[in-house]
Amino acid sequence: MNRPGRATAVAHPNIALIKYWGNLDPARRIPSNGSISLTLSGLETRTSVTFRADLPSDRVTIGGQPADPDAAARVIFVLDRVRSLSKTSSRAEVESANSFPTSSGIASSASGFAALACAAAAAAGLDLDAAGLSRLARLGSGSACRSVHGGFVEWIAGTDDVTSYAVPIAPPDHWDLRDVVAIVSRTTKEVGSSEGHRRADTSPLQAARVRQAPLRLETCRRALLDKDFPRLAEIVEQDSDLMHAVMRTSTPPLDYSTPTTAALRVVVPSWRAQGLAAAYTQDAGPHLHVICPVEHAAEVIRRVTAFPGVINVLVAGPGGAPQIVEGDRSG
Ligand code: DP6
Repeated sequence: MNRPGRATAVAHPNIALIKYWGNLDPARRIPSNGSISLTLSGLETRTSVTFRADLPSDRVTIGGQPADPDAAARVIFVLDRVRSLSKTSSRAEVESANSFPTSSGIASSASGFAALACAAAAAAGLDLDAAGLSRLARLGSGSACRSVHGGFVEWIAGTDDVTSYAVPIAPPDHWDLRDVVAIVSRTTKEVGSSEGHRRADTSPLQAARVRQAPLRLETCRRALLDKDFPRLAEIVEQDSDLMHAVMRTSTPPLDYSTPTTAALRVVVPSWRAQGLAAAYTQDAGPHLHVICPVEHAAEVIRRVTAFPGVINVLVAGPGGAPQIVEGDRSG
């Protein structure tokens, strides 16, 4: 057994191009369908984990404040797996901070739990491979299992804890895409994604969405590998629309869009018809992500910024895998 210690990791969020929505096993976050994402540069979560034999219980702070009970329980679930794998009983001090505000509309759970998995494994002296880190991150947040890789990533849905993890499709420098995020609201979301996943199977559309997911995954994978933007745009918008159709037809229904989101969703395909390479995708929030090749980014940023109702715009490119920035096991 390794001696417990301390480690710090930095990880990036990701934007799903083919969405994860619904779980076969909500406790372990075994998803109903596979998904594909792009890890995003610029934005990051930095998480330190220190295992200490003298702590009576785990202590979790996010941005200097004690974590809320739900977030703390998810962190402890991941730490418990690390303790069981490393045969450690020490409790841990976890300090996490995001470089981007929650109000930016970018979900921090993917980068947060990817950083936690990497830092906790390193602090406990566990030598996990990428699949092992991905499984560990998945226990905290499904989308986090994709953020253990940089660039273009696929989460293989699998059927259980062993077979469900993410694999890389292509490195960050494969295709220089941009995610231009239209921030359209300052209020935080009312229904979190975990609750949304629980509602997915109440929609009569979810079964059809899940059944056709392998086809969409194959089309998206091919479009990415071939750098075929028109094909990518079609499949990314269709997949986003399918997820939001499931949300709107769930019981109780979920609708994350504002009038600005809806108006932008109409206008982006019309820009594409005029020759501007741009495609929208929307997660479990009101902000619209406009994906484009770097050559078209300046014009996309100009149009999105000028669009009525858009509060501000964030721009990210392909990001790398998490990094351990500080770590020792002598602690
Ligand atoms: C719409 O990973 O945030 O962004 O596993 O409950 O933490 P939990 O859910 P989360 O769900 C992400 C939903 C999504 C689509 C996606 O990222 O694939």
